[in-house]
Amino acid sequence: MKTILVTGGAGFIGSHTTLELLNAGYNVVVMDNLRNSKEEALRRVEDLTGKSVTFHKVDLLDVEGMTRLFTEYSFDGVIHFAGLKAVGESVENPLLYYQNNLIGTINLCDVMGKASVKNMVFSSSATVYGDPQTNPIPEDSPVTFVNPYGFTKLNIEYMLRDLQRAEPEWNIASLRYFNPVGAHKSGEIGEDPSGIPNNLMPFITQVAVGKREKLNVFGGDYPTPDGTAIRDYIHVVDLSVGHLKALEKLETDPGMVTYNLGTGKGSSVLDLIKAFEKATGIEINYEITDRRPGDAVQCYADPTKAENELGWRAERDLETMCRDAWNWQKKNPDGFPSDRV
Ligand code: UD1
Repeated sequence: MKTILVTGGAGFIGSHTTLELLNAGYNVVVMDNLRNSKEEALRRVEDLTGKSVTFHKVDLLDVEGMTRLFTEYSFDGVIHFAGLKAVGESVENPLLYYQNNLIGTINLCDVMGKASVKNMVFSSSATVYGDPQTNPIPEDSPVTFVNPYGFTKLNIEYMLRDLQRAEPEWNIASLRYFNPVGAHKSGEIGEDPSGIPNNLMPFITQVAVGKREKLNVFGGDYPTPDGTAIRDYIHVVDLSVGHLKALEKLETDPGMVTYNLGTGKGSSVLDLIKAFEKATGIEINYEITDRRPGDAVQCYADPTKAENELGWRAERDLETMCRDAWNWQKKNPDGFPSDRV
């Protein structure tokens, strides 16, 4: 049985991927600092799968703690989710992002290399495409960054590429996520942002559940059919399955590979609101306001490469994403309960 280390495995995408890994028969060790996640997510993953997850509260900046983990277990690969991801916070506190995301990943790679564990799946982001000139976006499109968060994602990709060039025995898959939303169909695990959500779907579900009065739609004058910005929303379960396919790909010694994980379908903010209303029967109170600085007009994937090389394709539609996100929010209006101490 293969043993995988999942960094950030208690988070939104991490917990869903841990569940898929367990269901596929992997042994999973989760390492998470619980800064933006709760251990309760993993307890629920255990309940849903009937399997156990080994959890260690270790930070990427704790080299000794990580080294201990790599001594204790014999990992076949690492899925590296751990990192900070709030754009605004990264602008206010860039060093925090450079330290956690960049230094943290350098530490992880260093510890992995010393333990001769050289298979990694990395959580990158469509943020590396900035405000793309053409859509759908293939992987060889120009890349850039517009904020410290995006800088860290792009530079980790460069760092991993250089590492793999220098030491060809490494196999690394960098997965560029589009907009992950939705939740496991049970409604037991889902996205649990702290404070006011930055992202659209959790904001919509919090309006629906009555925690927020109204949604601000950032910009109604974009050059798009309905004037609102277009994104590629992808169900978190589809995204998680993509990680398992990427792990399988690493077994073929591909070196450094990069894949878009998106549906290939662009949806506007108003499309998402309409899909949510249709899926749930709940009307969303919204108002069109100014654009949010730094937002792209439109951004959706060309997922052909992942389809051809991983045999992966997103299957769940926008309404399913909305229904599942709502099911999670409704069952857990305040997110996960705080961890017992
Ligand atoms: C954002 C980040 C991106 C990051 C991703 C995952 C920015 C500029 N980009 O992507 O770097 O990789 O999250 O965490 O923050 N919207 C509203 N009202 C809201 C919230 C969002 O209208 O209250 C709109 C946005 O303007 C955008 C769309 O909804 O057009 C999606 O926004 P969001 O969910 O924040 O994702 P991105 O901005 O695409």
